[in-house]
Amino acid sequence: MRPVQNALGMSSLSGVGIGLRATHYQTILNSLPQVPWFEALTDNYMGRGGLPLHHLERVAEHYPITLHGVGLSLGSTDPLNTTYLKKLKQLCERFQPVLVSDHLCWSSVSNVHGHDLFPLPYTERAAKHIGDRIQAVQDFLGHRILVENVSSYLQYKESMQTEAEFLVDVIERADCNLLCDINNIFVSASNHNFDAQEYLELMPVDRVQEMHLAGYEDQGTHLLDTHGAKVHAPVWSLYERALQRFGQVPTLIEWDTNIPEFSVLMAERDKAAAYHADVKHHVASGF
Ligand SMILES: [Fe+2]
Repeated sequence: MRPVQNALGMSSLSGVGIGLRATHYQTILNSLPQVPWFEALTDNYMGRGGLPLHHLERVAEHYPITLHGVGLSLGSTDPLNTTYLKKLKQLCERFQPVLVSDHLCWSSVSNVHGHDLFPLPYTERAAKHIGDRIQAVQDFLGHRILVENVSSYLQYKESMQTEAEFLVDVIERADCNLLCDINNIFVSASNHNFDAQEYLELMPVDRVQEMHLAGYEDQGTHLLDTHGAKVHAPVWSLYERALQRFGQVPTLIEWDTNIPEFSVLMAERDKAAAYHADVKHHVASGF
């Protein structure tokens, strides 16, 4: 087991958690299911009060919490949003999340938000740019964050590195950790015709602090990362290999569209937990 402990040593994380969604607040609080931790979407808790914060406080009384955001726009050329950063820091002080994460992407240009997670050109210049900004965020928060690989549907002709090489470059420059989304690797590998297993082999083992599992939709011409379905068979296979390489890293079931009954998420969680418990740790020998 590779439990992850937060900077203050207040709590640790292990096993397979579930993404906390508003539709499940009451089910969770009424039944206190056997889930080792929940991941809250940072951007949903940035208000000054109200029901979301109230529910998150109740959930945090019973479970370790991680914070996962989409609003830092780490790869953008817009200045870092200091209002957002201050709110994020306040949330961290209030909830003591074991992990704090956002994405390896940009979302805004000229302060207009696209409300999507756009990939970067994979160049040294872009790696330095986003690496510097991740460092600035970490300096402001006072601890490391995790950056997550995103699903993508376009590539830039300017790219000089593969996505995996770029990710490793950014992690080294920023001295940050990695949230390795297994579904996103599979979706992007399928859309851009690269080898998902080769991608996994390049990831620095000691930086992988969390993994994500989710479902995609096959659109015929490409795979669309909907987070609205069960995890697909090839993603389970890739997850098994990731566990062999990275060890029993805390893993999350993500489901954001067509959100089903909590019992469906629990069944997916239990399936992932079986993979998680069974895997033999072969970090030294690779696959
Ligand atoms: Fe994810």
